[in-house]
Amino acid sequence: MLQSYPVDLSILRCPHDGGAVERSSPSRFACSSGHGFAVDGCVVDFLPPRAAHVVGLARAMVYDALLPRWTLQHLFGVRPALLEELHELAAGAARGGTLVDAPCGSALFSAEAAVRAGIARYVGLDASAPMLRLARRRLVGAGVPDALLVAADLLAPPLAPGSADAVVTSLGLQFVAPREVALGSLARLLRPGGRLYGAAPALGLRASYDRRHQTRRVKDFPLDAATLSDELGRAGFVDVTVRREGALLVWTSVRAAPRSGP
Ligand SMILES: C[S@@+](CC[C@H](N)C(=O)[O-])C[C@H]1O[C@@H](n2cnc3c(N)ncnc32)[C@H](O)[C@@H]1O
Ligand SMILES: [Zn+2]
Repeated sequence: MLQSYPVDLSILRCPHDGGAVERSSPSRFACSSGHGFAVDGCVVDFLPPRAAHVVGLARAMVYDALLPRWTLQHLFGVRPALLEELHELAAGAARGGTLVDAPCGSALFSAEAAVRAGIARYVGLDASAPMLRLARRRLVGAGVPDALLVAADLLAPPLAPGSADAVVTSLGLQFVAPREVALGSLARLLRPGGRLYGAAPALGLRASYDRRHQTRRVKDFPLDAATLSDELGRAGFVDVTVRREGALLVWTSVRAAPRSGP
């Protein structure tokens, strides 16, 4: 249960009105307007009641086992070290501060990176509570018992704007549409000058991924190598660098400072 962990909840905001969220009973949270949210096991659950999690328990376990052993190499054509490095950079940029990992899945790459970097607060957001339960297990094992894990949609993150020193979005943006809303959400989470580190697949970079995309019954939303830099710019990022690795686009970017003056 969440009660077992010394979790700092001050970063939480109601996804409906942006109000602060406080514990209203041992198993529930509420904002001052009365929107209530459950604690589902070790996760604060902002998804609609009885929502079907985008990834169920069986798929979460298969994903967790296959990603490092098969998916990265055969589908995306990259080594696990690429993702490990991305998460090391993100955690390093949040050293002493807050790292938001969205979507965090099972925290496969971020748990160890968070410990090595010495971040003050790890916040994992994902639309799958089963994934988050795997993440809790991994984070506790790695030595991050006070991680805050929230079941929520990346399109409406229930977190205070400007609260993250760095955000990492790894292998998840291809599932979220519209992308401009997703990138806007990630930008808002960052303080000005905070960094976004990302990796997600695009079409046209690797045949195995393109074939898999064509045969998917439910299509996802791969990135576009020709437009990602501009999309990040429109979402409020500067100093954007994008590179291609196998089927993936891997990028770093900085949240622009708000414009001052008239
Ligand atoms: C392939 S996993 C990647 C997880 C992790 N970042 C990693 O690198 O191992 C993709 C994750 O995206 C989550 N997801 C899909 N759509 C989402 C959405 N709209 N909001 C939040 N999470 C979402 C899924 O539940 C899944 O855990
Ligand atoms: Zn509310």
